[in-house]
Order: sequence, then structure tokens, then C-alpha cells
Amino acid sequence: MKTRIVISLLLLVVVALGVGAYMMHNMMQRGFSTRTEPMQMEKVLATTIRARATPSRYKTMKNPVAATPEVIHEGMEHWADHCASCHANDGSGDTMYGKTMYPRPPNMRQKETQELSDGELYYTIKNGIRLSGMPAFGDPGDDDLDSWKLVAFIRHLPQLSDQEQMEMEHLNPKGPDEMQEEMEEEQFLNGGKAPTAPKMSNMHH
Ligand code: HEC
Repeated sequence: MKTRIVISLLLLVVVALGVGAYMMHNMMQRGFSTRTEPMQMEKVLATTIRARATPSRYKTMKNPVAATPEVIHEGMEHWADHCASCHANDGSGDTMYGKTMYPRPPNMRQKETQELSDGELYYTIKNGIRLSGMPAFGDPGDDDLDSWKLVAFIRHLPQLSDQEQMEMEHLNPKGPDEMQEEMEEEQFLNGGKAPTAPKMSNMHH
């Protein structure tokens, strides 16, 4: 009996060392570039560890905020401002940063994300994901309504309309050059007159 346990443990160690050595070898060959995407094995390993590291009470947590149109809209505004730079307005991850991050932000409209529980999404937003570009947002604590609204918006991503995406483009953070360009465009459309009121939506935080 005892020898069987010892043999199983030894086998486990050998397999773990093998996987480690293979990944090291791969990294040495490919260097530290983030241009390639993580290998399937790396993905599976990271996803498994992440699922295990999420405290169990979050796994069964349901969103305490009802997904009314107002709540989804608030989540959308927040997403356009703080999340879209990496995740894109539509959650595809197809952005300048997203395309070469290691690991890449996943396409969140797909089932791998949509099948995560409300609590798992919430926990990820609040705590970020180590060794990836995903930062932690909001204050620690479990009654962060803004983060729950973001969860409601993530659930809405697969049904996002073109009109909503257009609205989001106005809410995306803009650099000074883009602001200037937009002002000039508006001035041109106004027949040379300066725009009547500054666009408050761009200053929203
Ligand atoms: C600086 C880039 C960046 C920003 C900004 C960012 N994220 Fe992420 N996010 C990532 C990356 C990269 C991943 C993938 C990490 C991984 O696979 O380990 C990720 C993963 C996630 C996941 C997990 C999805 C899944 O299927 O596993 C959620 C949920 C998420 N982000 C929500 C958000 C929300 C909400 C915001 C805004 C409040 C946000 N993120 C802002 C980079 C970012």
C-alpha cells in the first residue's frame, strides 16, 4: 500500500518536472516575446489553476444587481471608459494592446467567458489576474455595485447592438490629438463656428 503511494507521488513529480522542463525549453527557444500566443498546455494549466484559486463562495454567487436596461447602460459606460482599451467595446479583445498581450484578452462573447459564474467574473474584476495584463479594479469588499454592473454588461456582450457600439465610441478615452481632431471636425460641420458646448461625454470618468 505504502509503496503504491510512493510510486504515484514519484510519478507525479516526474510528470511535473517534465512539463516544467518542456515549458522552459519552449520559452528559451521562443524568447520572451509576447507576439506569439500561449501554448495550449499553458492555457489549460493557467485556466485550471485560476479556477482552483477562485474562492469557492464566489463560484456560486449570483449577481445581486438586476440586469435592467439602465444597469446594462451604466456597465457599458464604465466598460467603454476603463476596459475597452484592452478588451474592445464589443469584448473581442481586438485592440492595439489586446492583440499582442501575453496572454491575450479572450473574446468575452464566447462560451469560455459566458460560462463562468457571475461570482467568478466579479472576483476577476475585483482581483485581476496575476502574471497577465488584467488589473484589479474597484475597492476591496463584496458590495461593489459598479463591478456587479460590469458583470451584467459582460453578459450583454453577445447581444451588443451596432447602435450601442457607436455610443461607446464616443465614451472611449481620447488622447489630446483625437480631442483636437474631433473639435475641428465639429467646427467644420458647424460651418466654421466653434462647437456650442464642450462634449461632456469625453470628460466623463
Ligand atoms: C490593461 C489591459 C486590460 C484592461 C484595462 C482590462 N483587462 Fe480584463 N483582461 C485582460 C487580459 C490580458 C485578460 C486575460 C487574462 C488571462 O487570460 O489570464 C483579461 C481577462 C478578463 C476577464 C476574464 C475573462 C475570462 O474569460 O477568463 C474578465 C472578466 C475581465 N478581464 C474583465 C475586465 C473588466 C470588467 C475591465 C474594466 C473594468 C477590464 N477587464 C480591463 C486585460 C485587461
